Amino acid sequence: MSDSQKTAKVSFDDKELELPMYAPTAGPEVIDIRKLYSEGGVFTYDPGFASTAACDSTITFIDGDKGQLLHRGYPIDQLASKSHFLEVCYLLLYGELPTAEQLEDFEHRVTNHTMLHEQMQNFFRGFRRDAHPMAVMVGVVGAMSAFYHDSTDISDPWQREVASIRLIAKMPTIAAWAYKYSVGQPFIYPRNDLDYASNFLRMCFAVPAEDYNVDPVLARAMDRIFTLHADHEQNASTSTVRLASSSGANPFACIAAGIACLWGPAHGGANQACLEMLREIGTPDQIPEYIARAKDKNDPFRLMGFGHRVYKNFDPRAKVMKQSADEVLDLLGIEDNPTLQTAKELERVALEDDYFVEKKLYPNVDFYSGIILDAMGFPTSMFTPIFAVARTVGWISQWKEQISDPQLRIGRPRQLYQGKTLRDYVDVENR
Ligand code: CMC
Repeated sequence: MSDSQKTAKVSFDDKELELPMYAPTAGPEVIDIRKLYSEGGVFTYDPGFASTAACDSTITFIDGDKGQLLHRGYPIDQLASKSHFLEVCYLLLYGELPTAEQLEDFEHRVTNHTMLHEQMQNFFRGFRRDAHPMAVMVGVVGAMSAFYHDSTDISDPWQREVASIRLIAKMPTIAAWAYKYSVGQPFIYPRNDLDYASNFLRMCFAVPAEDYNVDPVLARAMDRIFTLHADHEQNASTSTVRLASSSGANPFACIAAGIACLWGPAHGGANQACLEMLREIGTPDQIPEYIARAKDKNDPFRLMGFGHRVYKNFDPRAKVMKQSADEVLDLLGIEDNPTLQTAKELERVALEDDYFVEKKLYPNVDFYSGIILDAMGFPTSMFTPIFAVARTVGWISQWKEQISDPQLRIGRPRQLYQGKTLRDYVDVENR
C-alpha cells in the first residue's frame, strides 16, 4: 500500500480527524478509516459496500467507466482470445504468465487431481433426484473438508497449495456429477488425456453406452466461458469467501460459502434467470412490454443480464460472449435461434432507451452466456454451476492472497442500530 502523501479531514461535533490516504496503482484513492472509531467514536455507514474497500489486492482490476477488466494487468479480451483457462488460472494464482515448463507442470497437477474420492458418490446419492445442481455443489464442496483432511490446515502453505489444486481440478467433476445425478445417468469419470473444458463436456454428455466426441470448437467456447468468469475482484461471492476465511475456516468450507452466495439471481444465478426471461419474452414483438415492466418502480421485474455495480459501460466479457454465441450457433447450424434474435433486439432497444442510458445499464456477462450453454445442450439449472466451476480459481486466488496477508483480521462489520434500547423483561401474564 503506498502512501499518497495526502490526508482526508473529517470533522463533526468538536472533533477533527486527519485520516491517511493511499494511492492505488489504478482506480480511486482510498481513505484509511481504521482509526475513525477508536479516535472519533463513530462508524461509517455503507450498506452494499458501494464506497468501501475491504482489502488491498493485486489480482484483478475493473475500470467500470471504461468497461475494462484486467487480471494481473492483462485485459480480459486478450486473455479470452490468446490464452486459455488453465493458463489464466496460473496467472491468477501465481501473479505471472507461466513459462512453457511451468504451464506443463501446472496442467499436469490439475489433470491428476480431477477424480473424486470414490466414497463421495454416496454423498451425491443422498440428495433428492430433483435437487438443483447448485444445492448439490454447496453440499459436496463443503463435504470435501471431510474427505481431504490432509489439506485443511491453512497455516501450512503446502496444504494451501494442495487444497487449491484439488478444488480447481475437482470442481468440473463435481458439477458434471451433480448434472448426471439430476438426469438419472451414471457418473462419468474424468479422463487425463483431455483438456479441462473437453473433459468437463465429456463428463456431462457421455454415457457408458456411448462416448461423447468433443467438438474442438465447442471445447474452445466452453474454455472461453470459463476464462471470462475466472475472477471479478471483490464481488459478492468473493467477499463471502474472504469473510468466511477471515475466521480461519478451511478452504473447502470457504468455497462452499462462495458457491451459496453465487447462486442468487442478482449474482451468478442471473445467467439462468436471463435465459428463462428471454424464453418468456419469446419474440421481439413482446420486448416493449418487458422494457416497460423493467422501468416500472411498482414492478419488481428487472432485465436480467443487464446492469452491474461496477460497470457503467459495456461489460467487456459480454462483448466476447456475444461473439462466441454467434460462432457456436453457426457451428451447430442453428441459424434462426429465436432466443438469440430476442436477445439482440432486446439489447438494441434497451441501449436506446432513456431509462437504461441514464442509469448506465449495459448487458453484463450473463446476457449471452446462457444462449451458448443452451445451444451446447445444458439445461438452465447447469448455468450457475458452470459459473461456479470457473470462479473457483478466483475465489481460491483471493483466499490465498488474504491468508498470507499479515494484516488479516476477522471480518466484523459494525451496524447502525435502529432497534429498541434497554428495557426490562415482562412476564408472559403481564404482556
Ligand atoms: N433492470 C432494470 N432496472 C435496473 C436493473 C435492471 N437489470 N439494474 C439496475 N436497475 C436500476 C435500479 O432499479 C436502480 O434504479 P433507481 O436508481 O431508480 O432506484 C438503478 O438501476 C441502480 O440499481 P441498483 O440495484 O441500485 O444497482 P446495484 O449496483 O445495487 O445492482 C445489479 C447491480 C447487477 C444487482 C443489478 O443491476 C441487477 O439486479 N441486474 C440484474 C441481475 C443481473 O444481471 N446480475 C448479474 C450481474 S453480472 C454477473 C455477476 O455479478 O454475477
